[in-house]
Amino acid sequence: MADSSHGPASFWTQADALLRKNLAFHKRNIRSNVQLVLFPLVLCMLLITIQTVVNIELSQPALRCGCICVDSNGDGKCEKKCGIEYSTVDQAWSCPVASPAQWPPLLQIPAPEYRAVQSEFIASMDLPKESCRKSSSCPATILLTGKNRTLGRNLGANMIPRSSSFNISDISHTMANNILGSDSKPQPTFLMEPAFFSNLSFYYLQRHCPTNSSFTVPFKFGSAVLKLECSCVQGLNLWRHSSSEINDEVYKGYRRGNPKRKINEIIAAYDFLDTDATRFNVSILYNSTYRNETGKYPISAIRMPRSVNMASNAYLQFLLGPGFKILFEFVKSMPKQESLLRLEISTRLGPLFFTWVILQLFPVILTSLVYEKEQRLRIMMKMHGLGDGPYWMISYSYFLLLSSVYMIVFVTFGSLIGLKFFTLNDYSVQLVLYFLYINLQIALAFLVSGLFSNVKTASVVGYIIVFGTGILGGFLFQFFLQASSFPRGWITAMELFPGFALYRGLYEFAQYCLNGYFTGTVGMRWKHLNDRDNGIKEVLIIIFVEWLVVLSVAFYLNKVISSGRSPTYTIRNFQKEPQPLLQKPSSERQGSIDFVQMEKSDVLQEKGKVVQLLQESSISLAIVCDNLKKIYPGRDGNTEKHAVRGLSLALPHGECFGVLGPNGAGKTSFINMMTGIIKPSSGTAFVEGFDIQTQMNSIYTSMGVCPQHDLLWETLTGREHLLFYGRLKNLKGAALNQAVEDSLKSVNLFYDGVADKQAGKYSGGMKRRLSVAISLIGDPKVALFPYLHKRIFLNIDSFVIY
Ligand SMILES: *[C@@H]1O[C@H](CO)[C@@H](O)[C@H](O)[C@H]1NC(C)=O
Ligand SMILES: *[C@@H]1O[C@H](CO)[C@@H](O)[C@H](O)[C@H]1NC(C)=O
Ligand SMILES: *[C@@H]1O[C@H](CO)[C@@H](O)[C@H](O)[C@H]1NC(C)=O
Ligand SMILES: *[C@@H]1O[C@H](CO)[C@@H](O)[C@H](O)[C@H]1NC(C)=O
Ligand SMILES: *[C@@H]1O[C@H](CO)[C@@H](O)[C@H](O)[C@H]1NC(C)=O
Repeated sequence: MADSSHGPASFWTQADALLRKNLAFHKRNIRSNVQLVLFPLVLCMLLITIQTVVNIELSQPALRCGCICVDSNGDGKCEKKCGIEYSTVDQAWSCPVASPAQWPPLLQIPAPEYRAVQSEFIASMDLPKESCRKSSSCPATILLTGKNRTLGRNLGANMIPRSSSFNISDISHTMANNILGSDSKPQPTFLMEPAFFSNLSFYYLQRHCPTNSSFTVPFKFGSAVLKLECSCVQGLNLWRHSSSEINDEVYKGYRRGNPKRKINEIIAAYDFLDTDATRFNVSILYNSTYRNETGKYPISAIRMPRSVNMASNAYLQFLLGPGFKILFEFVKSMPKQESLLRLEISTRLGPLFFTWVILQLFPVILTSLVYEKEQRLRIMMKMHGLGDGPYWMISYSYFLLLSSVYMIVFVTFGSLIGLKFFTLNDYSVQLVLYFLYINLQIALAFLVSGLFSNVKTASVVGYIIVFGTGILGGFLFQFFLQASSFPRGWITAMELFPGFALYRGLYEFAQYCLNGYFTGTVGMRWKHLNDRDNGIKEVLIIIFVEWLVVLSVAFYLNKVISSGRSPTYTIRNFQKEPQPLLQKPSSERQGSIDFVQMEKSDVLQEKGKVVQLLQESSISLAIVCDNLKKIYPGRDGNTEKHAVRGLSLALPHGECFGVLGPNGAGKTSFINMMTGIIKPSSGTAFVEGFDIQTQMNSIYTSMGVCPQHDLLWETLTGREHLLFYGRLKNLKGAALNQAVEDSLKSVNLFYDGVADKQAGKYSGGMKRRLSVAISLIGDPKVALFPYLHKRIFLNIDSFVIY
């Protein structure tokens, strides 16, 4: 027997062995890895295609600044002229406006059918009778209140002019001097006042209307002259005792809601508070409905400025006399460039799609981990001495590498095809988020893999989580994010779910990118981490802390599970609790084992022998068991199970020992204790003098285990299996190659290139022989075999057949 001078494989040797095996394994699986990495590319292509199609649609002439053909010098050649003056309302917004037009400031006046009148809901008898609605002659109302009624009424009277003066040849002065208004719907920008393009509704406000009150004002706009039909509206100012009275009245008159309710709209309401001769303090109630319709209407667009001007003029006249006035001639927008409606899809769909892309890795990692568990390859490696440390380190590093390559390909490709999501945001901020998240994701997969013993279930659950998270993120979580009234604390609580934390991060990237895109600046930068409300900092902290916690919990649980009951190696039914039947050790080498009932006295004799042996300074026997016991705690109301009850055994070198017994006799528990898969409840055993309680790592180098079922990687060759397990036995260099060769020869797998075929293609017998070769590589001093149909006589020191 070759003496195994090599000690247990060090951490790094184990890690190296596993790394080489994994490299070979993943080289075979390169196709699925490449497919995985290509998934984001397909998604990006999809996004960019949608974006291109939509942008082609958006650049249709109907949505772009209007143009006409002008034949200015009559030579038949036409000159293309574009501009706001040639555009429809739909086109106008996109036109460049180098010098915006000046528009007279209008007042928003309710349409005749909505103006406030008396009704049973509103107890104010100073309002006009409802009959005025029939003749469209209802006055438009202004409500007033304040601390000093005399002053308030005085100001209210000053607000509405007694008469209007129209000078057709001086339009701008006319517009400034009189109060003109409209009931048309405002536009979000003030590049164009829509009232001037709709002949429907154009009013001037006056205290009393003459009978023939309507006339036409020519209004020059560009080269066109617009004829504006102006009709007189009587202005009514009414005093109310308090602002809450006004509030009530306005609330009851609101147009939405109950269709049967009387609609009573007013122009505006003024609360003059503590205004006196030295202080002008007013608060104006105006109708902000349109302003909030899109959130984009500037205050000038909803025709607010004129109502402020009315109040300040009224106060000025109260102080200085009726001749004084602040002339408010026009409002005007800022100049602007041509604006094109373009979709930057990565900012719209990015958070949803990219959440999917990143989460996609989760089921991949999970199934890979569960596969090794389901196939019991993890246990097999453990029995051959692969510790948890190297296993975790190499698996983790591999998944991290895979995830990183995946993300790098994704971000690179996304940037190359020009998705602004990637190019506008700072890469280093993105990198930190992605890197932290893929680490958390791997740790989570390790944690969750403990719950599954079946690859199919794991992958189904994994994909449900991926798609569910994306959908919930896009349609629920994002809704909460955008609702400013939703408590921020709840948002943070939701972010404790890792998928939502990722979603939040991507969402903020998209928001900053959108901002940058439309303002022509950049997206997220490091300095933005300090912005209030963006939540990026808190997302990063959550992900990092969760990673630490999940990783330690996963590692801890893994230790507990693998040292306690291993789900795949537990013996489930212990209805009977028979004494293990042991064959008396025989001095001849013998492969077959007879079923011999042992006498109680023999048991006692063996016990005595063990006790005696243990008193000697060194144990020179192959296996010594000292009162080994395994008791499984009671479960589901069952009593506790005594799987192995006080087994004592002394097994010298050069002996073949068989363990026989009916199902549930405790054979597997015994073998599992000997191989370190479970810990004995009490007692201990020594293999080659090493204690199974404390020196399992040393035992692994001198023990070979052949599992009951072949535990092989389908895609690895026989030689790769042996190389891997040989390295775990601390064989190196030439010795390793020699050992592999010998062992292939000894099980007759060396010839015809069988050794270099993938194990999945082996026949049942070849797989069995490979399993035997694996258990014998590295010349174990003790080998544990299940009962073999074809007896294999091998040149081995001692072995136990179970
Ligand atoms: C109310 O205002 C008028 C001036 O319009 C002033 O004469 C009067 O003293 C004020 N009343 C009070 C109670 O301040
Ligand atoms: C009308 O405006 C023109 C131009 O400013 C001015 O010459 C004329 O006197 C005005 N007419 C009246 C009646 O104010
Ligand atoms: C404000 O304007 C909207 C839209 O025209 C209208 O529905 C609503 O009734 C108005 N509210 C009041 C108090 O006038
Ligand atoms: C305006 O009036 C309100 C309410 O009376 C008061 O709180 C506020 O201080 C006043 N503002 C000024 C500038 O006096
Ligand atoms: C309406 O919009 C203004 C300014 O955009 C905002 O401050 C206000 O809270 C909004 N009101 C409602 C009821 O949404």
